[in-house]
Amino acid sequence: MFDNFEVPQNLIPSDPRFGCGPSLVPVQFLEALTKTGHHFMGTSHRKPGVKNVVKEIQEGLVKYFNLPSDYLVVLGNGGATLLFDMIALGIVEKKATHYTCGEFSEKWYKSSKLVPWIDTEQVAVAFGKGINGAAVPGSDLIAVTLNETSTGVQLSKLPVVDSNTILAVDATSGGGQCPCDISKTDIYFFSPQKVFASDGGLWVAIMSPKALARAKKIAADKSRYVPDIMNWTNAITNSEQNQTYNTPALATLFMMNEQVKLMNMIGYEEVKNLAQKKADLLYGWAESKPYLSCFIEEKEFRSVAVATIDVDSKVNVDDVIKFLEKKKLVYGIDGYRKLGRNQFRISMFHNISYNDLEKLTGLLSKMIESKL
Ligand SMILES: Cc1ncc(COP(=O)(O)O)c(C=O)c1O
Repeated sequence: MFDNFEVPQNLIPSDPRFGCGPSLVPVQFLEALTKTGHHFMGTSHRKPGVKNVVKEIQEGLVKYFNLPSDYLVVLGNGGATLLFDMIALGIVEKKATHYTCGEFSEKWYKSSKLVPWIDTEQVAVAFGKGINGAAVPGSDLIAVTLNETSTGVQLSKLPVVDSNTILAVDATSGGGQCPCDISKTDIYFFSPQKVFASDGGLWVAIMSPKALARAKKIAADKSRYVPDIMNWTNAITNSEQNQTYNTPALATLFMMNEQVKLMNMIGYEEVKNLAQKKADLLYGWAESKPYLSCFIEEKEFRSVAVATIDVDSKVNVDDVIKFLEKKKLVYGIDGYRKLGRNQFRISMFHNISYNDLEKLTGLLSKMIESKL
């Protein structure tokens, strides 16, 4: 469909990666990893060479998020999906309430629901709508998703919970960039292949004293069978020693550490400001073109990490995407497949520059307009 389209040179982004995860890993991280030569990859995660990187990540996150001194940065293998099960198995006492608004929040609810010894309640809104959640009498864990990657909805306010209730926040794709006061949460968790520009397979859970106490209390209940890989005591005690329970991917840790250092150079406030500017650019673009519209109509819920933009059915986004991928100019702007919409889903993660988003929107406009 676009075979004869001439790409304007001034609209070619400096980096083609606009995906929502795995996300753009800066080339300089890969170069820095190469420079470690014989002294990092292939060494033991129980020795200082790797443990110091884990320690730097933990301390870097404490600084970046300005965490209360009694919060602990816990790490393990398996990604955020593993935490869905770990939280249901080892943190929920009797009942969890899940607020869902898309594919990932539903997935978390569904895995919780499978655990036979707890009750799991779902409070859902349609995909494309936002929901902030609230405490529920009888629920000892409230589950919300900071940024619903499938739809591009972010929380606009955190639920307030009492001292007996755990507030668990899936911050996988919004963590580090979407506004959130972590001191008001009990488990704020993410995988590092989004804003933290690393690779998948790792999980990070920032835990409050209340969450640590709950994990300990439930671990004492020997009637629950929890596999060792999902055992909170194993995860917590290893993290206290700057280690993971089982062998981690060292390159993932290295790249994440580079990103935490990079983000700490400007700080969380500035990262949030930059994200808001990029969001204003993308949603402003969508609102200014008659052939585009913002999928998320409620402005307060529009994500500053993932923008979802519907396109007039006269132009098939798959043709646009295929052309740009074939030319190696743009990767990863497809809508979430199960939504089945004629939609671009564009990441605004920290390493994706404002200038490149400007070029991308210019290029997409030109391509679409050439067909209208
Ligand atoms: C909001 C959200 N939660 C959880 C996950 C699952 O993360 P992982 O694939 O690292 O297990 C994702 C992955 O994209 C996500 O976007």
